[in-house]
Amino acid sequence: MISENLTGSFVLIYTVLPVVTVLLMAKWLMGKNTVYKKRDLQGKTIILTGASSGIAYEVAVDLVKRGPRLIIAVLSKQEGEETCRKLRQSSGNSDVSYKIMDLASFKSIHAFVDDVKRTERHLDVLINNAAVMLCQHEETEDGLDRTLQVNYFGPFLLTNLLLDLLEKSQSARIIHVTTGFAVKYAGGLKINHLNYFDTSVKTYCRSKLYLRLFNYELAKRLTNSNVNTFSVHPGDCYTNLFTDMSALFKFFTRIWMLSQRSVKKASEVIIHCIDADDLQQLSGKHFENLKPTHHDAPIETNSRLSEDLWNKSMEIVKLPY
Ligand SMILES: NC(=O)c1ccc[n+]([C@@H]2O[C@H](COP(=O)([O-])OP(=O)(O)OC[C@H]3O[C@@H](n4cnc5c(N)ncnc54)[C@H](OP(=O)(O)O)[C@@H]3O)[C@@H](O)[C@H]2O)c1
Repeated sequence: MISENLTGSFVLIYTVLPVVTVLLMAKWLMGKNTVYKKRDLQGKTIILTGASSGIAYEVAVDLVKRGPRLIIAVLSKQEGEETCRKLRQSSGNSDVSYKIMDLASFKSIHAFVDDVKRTERHLDVLINNAAVMLCQHEETEDGLDRTLQVNYFGPFLLTNLLLDLLEKSQSARIIHVTTGFAVKYAGGLKINHLNYFDTSVKTYCRSKLYLRLFNYELAKRLTNSNVNTFSVHPGDCYTNLFTDMSALFKFFTRIWMLSQRSVKKASEVIIHCIDADDLQQLSGKHFENLKPTHHDAPIETNSRLSEDLWNKSMEIVKLPY
């Protein structure tokens, strides 16, 4: 009995405690405040998808204090009302509203955009943040895999439908929230076979790879326009994104996340891409840790592939090209 207790204490002192200490120190170092210039956002109109929780909620909390007109796109009336109430209360900004949009439904996206166009004359920032990571294939009403539609085909359609409104802004920015693991775990890209589920992580990463290529292609098509587009990796943090995953996945993810950043810290790179001056030359770039990356994999900047993906996506979302 005594020897068992001693072994337990030994394991705790010499293995578990040092590991937890190192993870927490890494998190503390990553969480140190970053100082960067914040813009006054009075007169700016911003659309933010998936703001009821996680990283985008923290983005909204930061932005709303600076006076923009903020429209959050959410899945339900209840979420919309609750989130708007909290944002108005924390900022005193009453110009916060919600509109319902389900990215898994093209019909819902069209209805959202029609509604936006009835009330807005210009759009200054579009943040494509909403996403899911599902543990299995689910087919949407549009016949697509749900992960791929919510994370890529939906934002692709949404962005294209809002481009004319963005072009009416003096200087507009589109921010696509992606991941740094997009290439590593996507398992490649088959241009004639875009809509398939293999594993949850691969499908999620592939949706983000499509989004990064979309960002790259969009920037090319918007050269010399007043609209700039960026992809960002917020960094890893524990959120509702992992709700659908297995208990084992969640357990290891939680441990890994002990060393990663806070949700608030993860919101910074998105906010930075709204605030930073002189980003025109960097349109189409992918940002991590507040900086553009210089080590993009060849697949992410392959012009032929990004153009083919654009054309195929136009067919899938039924837009003329
Ligand atoms: N957390 C990380 O470690 C991490 C790492 C890299 C990249 N990211 C990216 O960061 C972004 C934010 O993720 P998060 O971690 O903050 O996760 P989250 O808290 O789960 O936020 C995702 C948001 O998307 C919304 N959403 C889900 N399905 C939707 C649909 N069909 N239509 C419209 N909105 C929908 C969710 O609404 P409900 O709450 O109503 O479901 C939620 O508000 C995502 O793009 C994610 O891929 C996260």
